[in-house]
Amino acid sequence: MIIRMITSAPVVELADVRRAYRSGDTTTVALDGVSLSVGSASFTAVMGPSGSGKSTLLQCAAGLDRADSGRVVLAGLDLGTVREPRLTVERRTRAGFVFQAYNLIDALTVEENVLLPQRLAGTRADRAYAREVLGAVGLGGREKARPAQLSGGQRQRVALARALAGRPAVIFADEPTGALDIQSGKEVLALLRRAVDEFATAVVMVTHDPAAAAWADRVVILADGRIVRDLAAPTAEQVAEHMMAVTKR
Ligand SMILES: Nc1ncnc2c1ncn2[C@@H]1O[C@H](COP(=O)(O)OP(=O)(O)OP(=O)(O)O)[C@@H](O)[C@H]1O
Ligand SMILES: [Mg+2]
Repeated sequence: MIIRMITSAPVVELADVRRAYRSGDTTTVALDGVSLSVGSASFTAVMGPSGSGKSTLLQCAAGLDRADSGRVVLAGLDLGTVREPRLTVERRTRAGFVFQAYNLIDALTVEENVLLPQRLAGTRADRAYAREVLGAVGLGGREKARPAQLSGGQRQRVALARALAGRPAVIFADEPTGALDIQSGKEVLALLRRAVDEFATAVVMVTHDPAAAAWADRVVILADGRIVRDLAAPTAEQVAEHMMAVTKR
């Protein structure tokens, strides 16, 4: 009998990543030796107290910020080996982004916003797929609307469609539900979950909300720039308990 091992290479890999910010003679260590490996079709939540390094972790993993040392590999590309402007292009083809503040352009329509990363990357804009993705996030028929005409939850779904339209290996989301009411937040989380389960996208999401983290397959908790917990499919209650233990230290 032949036993075939199916091993998929990690989509995001950080090895002993360090990042410090210097201003004047003070140095803030934001990441203090972080190692993390994320596979395709997996949903990882990143939690931790304010200032623990969550956003820095996301920015370094995505190549929006440079690690001082250590290795970051994004969908097979060692980010330490590429420079701007190529880095920006490589990032746009590999990763999608969703932020708390939507970051949509008000002067563009919904569809133009969704296609913008592809236009900026100089790749051929796939309008049919953009429309399909807008339909999948429940915005079919709103292609010509402007962001100002949409609710917060709808705007975040445009941002999600924009992230998905480039068929990225990974979506990085920094507090995507932070500005939303509970119901809109749930819709966005359900869509991130579908991106993982149906599009095999990896999702790495920063959140402060244990209930949001419970949608993930894995929850890592940062404290002082280090990963201090790595939990497999915890409940919201378990996440909250670990968060309390970490914050009390
Ligand atoms: N551009 C910067 N310049 C100087 N210090 C920074 C910069 N960005 C982050 N830091 C510092 O690095 C540490 C980690 O910041 P980071 O934004 O990653 O935290 P966070 O966990 O995302 O916090 P929050 O939950 O408040 O968003 C903090 O002490 C922060 O003050
Ligand atoms: Mg942050």
